[in-house]
Amino acid sequence: MKEQLLGRPLARAFVAQAAALGLVLLARLSGWQPDLPVLLALHGGLAVLWSAWLKLPRWWWPLQALCLPGALVLLRLELPPWIFLLLFLLLLLIYWNAGGDRVPLYLSSQATWAAVERLLPAGPVAFVDLGCGLGGLLGFLAGRRPESRFCGIESAPLPLLASWLRLRGWPNCQVRRADLWQVELGEFSVVYCFLSPEPMAELWRKARAELRPGALFISNSFAVPGVSPDLTVEVGGRQRLLVWRM
Ligand SMILES: C[S@@+](CC[C@H](N)C(=O)[O-])C[C@H]1O[C@@H](n2cnc3c(N)ncnc32)[C@H](O)[C@@H]1O
Repeated sequence: MKEQLLGRPLARAFVAQAAALGLVLLARLSGWQPDLPVLLALHGGLAVLWSAWLKLPRWWWPLQALCLPGALVLLRLELPPWIFLLLFLLLLLIYWNAGGDRVPLYLSSQATWAAVERLLPAGPVAFVDLGCGLGGLLGFLAGRRPESRFCGIESAPLPLLASWLRLRGWPNCQVRRADLWQVELGEFSVVYCFLSPEPMAELWRKARAELRPGALFISNSFAVPGVSPDLTVEVGGRQRLLVWRM
């Protein structure tokens, strides 16, 4: 029930912080006057407990514990307030999809680019990178396969601008500002994505519904729950390609 109400980790993190802060304030109001380090330690401990109860993944816990001390340190630096607004806007424009789709920006490695090229069928292909980031993979493939058509879908403003600038010289390559869920996949013979575990089940349903028989669906690193790939290519580093033929 609580997971339905608080589906998004960010919402649960806020609730854990607020609940911890509320308890610490209550303790203060009831007359308890400990030193600041004790208060911060208490708040950090409570924030972690609430985070565990709300089933936030463990990597959130140290962030939750250090949130209030970090905020106090930043306040003491007495930086001009616009710096925080600027940083927030910058992060928002880059990590546009981290809150909603829970897909941040990280990039396919060059070894992965080469492995994807080896997977492409002979002859012209229509290739789409769902969430093309900075467009590196598309530029690499567009140069090597001039007979093929490459398309990048991106909705985060700064990555979109970067990939558009990078790819605007390639006649066989286009970048579209779009939400990947609104893209009709049937026009493509190869679909590539490097997203996160979160959207994979839904994306698989979309691919199954829209892709034509014989099309390739390639996911960098993230599995489709309950559906084994037809082929797995270990790329090295922390990336591997999972390949399904429709
Ligand atoms: C992990 S990065 C991968 C970038 C690139 N494909 C690569 O392999 O280097 C995922 C990208 O998907 C984008 N993205 C996430 N959800 C999206 C959505 N619903 N529509 C369009 N782009 C999305 C993010 O903004 C991010 O740039």
